Order: sequence, then C-alpha cells, then structure tokens
Amino acid sequence: KLFCLCNEVEESEVRKAIRKGELYFLPAVSEATGAGTGCGRCRSRIQELIDEEKKRL
Ligand code: FES
Repeated sequence: KLFCLCNEVEESEVRKAIRKGELYFLPAVSEATGAGTGCGRCRSRIQELIDEEKKRL
C-alpha cells in the first residue's frame, strides 16, 4: 500500500530500505527512499517502522 502520498513510496520500500541499509535514523530513511520529504504527514509513521525494525535486531 502507498505509504508516502507526496512521493508515492510504498511501505514495503521503506521497510526494505531500513533493513538493507540499516537505517535507524529518520533523515537517512527519507534520503534513501524520498518518503517524508514532502508534507511530512508520514514522518511519524516512518519513525514507527524504524522502531519496529529496531526491535527485530
Ligand atoms: Fe509523505 Fe507527504 S505523505 S511527505
């Protein structure tokens, strides 16, 4: 499903970028995927994904 409407980024892309790049810092995830660089509405959700992925470590 579409995750960042501004930049048309899918949730799976964000998750993959976090895992592959070991990105646990929001700006790094935004830079890698483009998500969160527009209106910012999805940023709290990106942080949630980061936190979820961190728990898997
Ligand atoms: Fe992601 Fe606007 S929905 S920046």
